[in-house]
Amino acid sequence: MSQTQTMKAVVYQEPFKVSIEERPVPELEHPDDALIKITTAAICGSDLHMYQGRTAAQGGLCFGHENMGIVIETGTGVSLLQKGDRVVMPFNVADGRCRNCEEGKTAFCTGVNPGFAGGAYGYVAMGPYQGGQAQFIRVPYADFNCLPLPAGTEHESDFIMLADIFPTGWHGVEISGFQPGESIAVFGAGPVGLMAAYSAVLRGASQVYVVDCVRERLAAAEKIGCVAVDFSKVDAVPFIVEKNGGMVDRSVDAVGYQASAVDGKKEAPSIVLENCIMVTRPTGGIGVPGLYVPSDPGAPDSNSGSGKLLISFGKLFEKGLTIGTGQCNVKTYNRYLRDMIISGRAKPSFVVSHEIGIDEAPGAYVKFDKREDGYTKVLIHPNGPVA
Ligand SMILES: NC(=O)c1ccc[n+]([C@@H]2O[C@H](COP(=O)([O-])OP(=O)(O)OC[C@H]3O[C@@H](n4cnc5c(N)ncnc54)[C@H](O)[C@@H]3O)[C@@H](O)[C@H]2O)c1
Ligand SMILES: [Zn+2]
Repeated sequence: MSQTQTMKAVVYQEPFKVSIEERPVPELEHPDDALIKITTAAICGSDLHMYQGRTAAQGGLCFGHENMGIVIETGTGVSLLQKGDRVVMPFNVADGRCRNCEEGKTAFCTGVNPGFAGGAYGYVAMGPYQGGQAQFIRVPYADFNCLPLPAGTEHESDFIMLADIFPTGWHGVEISGFQPGESIAVFGAGPVGLMAAYSAVLRGASQVYVVDCVRERLAAAEKIGCVAVDFSKVDAVPFIVEKNGGMVDRSVDAVGYQASAVDGKKEAPSIVLENCIMVTRPTGGIGVPGLYVPSDPGAPDSNSGSGKLLISFGKLFEKGLTIGTGQCNVKTYNRYLRDMIISGRAKPSFVVSHEIGIDEAPGAYVKFDKREDGYTKVLIHPNGPVA
């Protein structure tokens, strides 16, 4: 390591407050580790659950699970990476050797977070891994957890989407059971919903409906050829069924447990799952990348406080619907989506609304949380602008 002994990091303090702290630069802790100088880290809707105090996250946690940068040091056990390599890391931390990793289910690695299936950087309950909204990050099992990128700075804002939201959107479509030619409704036009809609377009959907109430986000969905549905103006399910000439083949919940009720003010934790059950044709499928939690300190009622949601399970059964859930196994997709970016077939950076230095991060959290000023996807460049 160079003389730099401390670095800047975005650190959670208490609900609705993150600040910039000086922290020690991480060091290699194991021969399989690599140290990465972060060029770009993104703020995710998943960070907002912690930011709003809607998880068990404690003050002192450095956020950031969407990270890319340059390798500056490798342990003696790292054989595939070299100093100077440009890499992007899946948000999942995985060991590459447990049963779930062997089966490609890297979001459920049992070797990186004792007592739990799954690890991530900078996330509550996901293990001791510091986040990358900082100048440097330590990456464990670095050969497995770093995806190499072409040298240089080209496609920086596309490649950062490979850490989470592009694979996650793609995964949401995948676990709905989608096939080319089918119609699909995506609930949520945040970054994950927009990536799910974009994936459905790339994969040959006949119709893609995108439901939200944020004007800029719906406009982004229209730009990529989707039908925008503003749930604050129309009742989404009957609107889609009518427009589609019947129920859709597939639906995706890219909202999760903090879904808004129709008035946009109250929360209704099961409303999107319920909409998916109603809008999807018998024997169709539902993909749920949107996050649900087993315990929510700020839930509107005691059942949802312990992750118990009221849904029409009888209707789901009657329709013979399938439902796929869970965190995305980013490694299943990231290599192929990278190659689609390189070849020019995919350009997921269309969701990026703001690029900032690390000192501006606390203010960006405030705006992103309120979905003000078109804040959709914020990229932080902790070591200065990327040329
Ligand atoms: N499964 C995974 O691996 C994974 C990875 C990343 C993010 N996530 C989760 O995906 C979800 C979306 O992430 P994001 O970054 O896009 O978040 P976001 O908060 O930016 O977007 C959510 C969007 O849903 C909209 N919304 C709220 N209520 C709605 C309703 N009733 N109907 C339709 N739209 C509604 C909001 O207006 C908002 O635009 C979050 O829960 C996040 O935690 C999961
Ligand atoms: Zn994320």
